[in-house]
Amino acid sequence: MALPAEAESRLYRALRAASGAAAHAAALGFPAAVALPARPGSSLFSWHPLLMALAFSFLMTEALLVFSPESSPLRSFSRKVKVRVHWALQLLALLCALLGLGIISYNKHLNGKAHFVTWHGLTGLLTVLYASMQCAGGVVLLYPKLMKNWTLAKLKLYHATSGLVGYLLGCASLMLGMCSLWFTTSVTGISWYLLMLCPILTSLVIMNQVSNAYLYRKRSQH
Ligand code: HEM
Repeated sequence: MALPAEAESRLYRALRAASGAAAHAAALGFPAAVALPARPGSSLFSWHPLLMALAFSFLMTEALLVFSPESSPLRSFSRKVKVRVHWALQLLALLCALLGLGIISYNKHLNGKAHFVTWHGLTGLLTVLYASMQCAGGVVLLYPKLMKNWTLAKLKLYHATSGLVGYLLGCASLMLGMCSLWFTTSVTGISWYLLMLCPILTSLVIMNQVSNAYLYRKRSQH
């Protein structure tokens, strides 16, 4: 038996709110859990997993969830405030990512190890380069007059879709980092699987949010 339309939409909104709450918990829980085996400060390397988890799990996810209609902590604030918080968090995420990349590269140099030779290292480098370009693209959106031949709607659509690609790349790098020898020997069994679920869950929630806000709506408007 089909549910009445109103009950169905209420159920859909409740499910979206519940998955949003789970995404907030995963975004914050992941760096906290990575900090346990890394023990920040115990070595130069220890800062790399923590800074990257903070950048791509906590800061970047929160920067995107700010726009969620159901689970944004700033739901009652204006779009202008949300945009400011979004770019401030993204800038902070980029700074953490650049610092994390600098630290791991310098640590490898100190230990005489080859650079960017694993899938994680290569994907990670691509992710940080992509995130830097995405932030530069965001500046264009703050000053749309810089791109005279593009409408603001088009700029927003491209920024959101390319941002989603960058976010998914970040999640893939986090997951590949969790496949590294260091992590698989530090975290084992069910804990490893639970941690793997964190970026999977947040990426599903963010994909759903961006698709609903831009892709489905734009297509149905044409
Ligand atoms: C999106 C987040 C991340 C990015 C962008 C990233 C980026 C990188 C890059 C570029 C390298 C290679 C550096 C070089 O060869 O000079 C690297 C190495 C490494 N990372 Fe990450 N990382 C991230 C998250 C993590 C996490 C969460 C962990 C641990 C759970 C981790 C563990 C490692 C380890 C053990 C190495 C050394 C071995 C290797 O080169 O694969 N990373 N990372």
